[in-house]
Amino acid sequence: MCRGLVAGWALLLALLCAGAEHERSREAMLRSHLARVHEFSCHEPQPRALEAEPLVNARSDEHVLPPSTVLHRCKDAGCCGARQVCAPLNSTPITLWFNVSSTVSRMWDMRSAEVLNHTHCSCQDFSELRR
Ligand SMILES: *[C@@H]1O[C@H](CO)[C@@H](O)[C@H](O)[C@H]1NC(C)=O
Ligand SMILES: *[C@@H]1O[C@H](CO)[C@@H](O)[C@H](O)[C@H]1NC(C)=O
Repeated sequence: MCRGLVAGWALLLALLCAGAEHERSREAMLRSHLARVHEFSCHEPQPRALEAEPLVNARSDEHVLPPSTVLHRCKDAGCCGARQVCAPLNSTPITLWFNVSSTVSRMWDMRSAEVLNHTHCSCQDFSELRR
């Protein structure tokens, strides 16, 4: 009877210890996750591939070369606080040239697009951006 009680307590203690162990490892995983997020905070824009057709207002019969370009963007370029987004703080206007050819007439021409390249990002409130 008594021995059974002792065994019962031992089992309970073992379960509690295992539970505490599990809790500690979950906390460690949470801490490393928080550190990783902190490391990747919104600051530097990231290179992104952007479709060229909308940049040069291409018609449906036009073929654009290169079909996509690379620009630095702040969107999703780093983590922010709650109800904030990573948005451009500074950007530089640049001119990009494309080869636009007509699939109908077989003629081609060079067409430029004025675009903004993001140079610095910061966390900005949703409410501020909507204004
Ligand atoms: C532009 O594209 C046309 C059609 O593909 C091609 O014939 C022409 O050589 C290209 N021009 C340049 C400067 O790449
Ligand atoms: C865009 O800006 C980044 C810095 O944010 C720079 O490294 C990159 O060369 C720029 N791209 C162009 C096409 O000027």
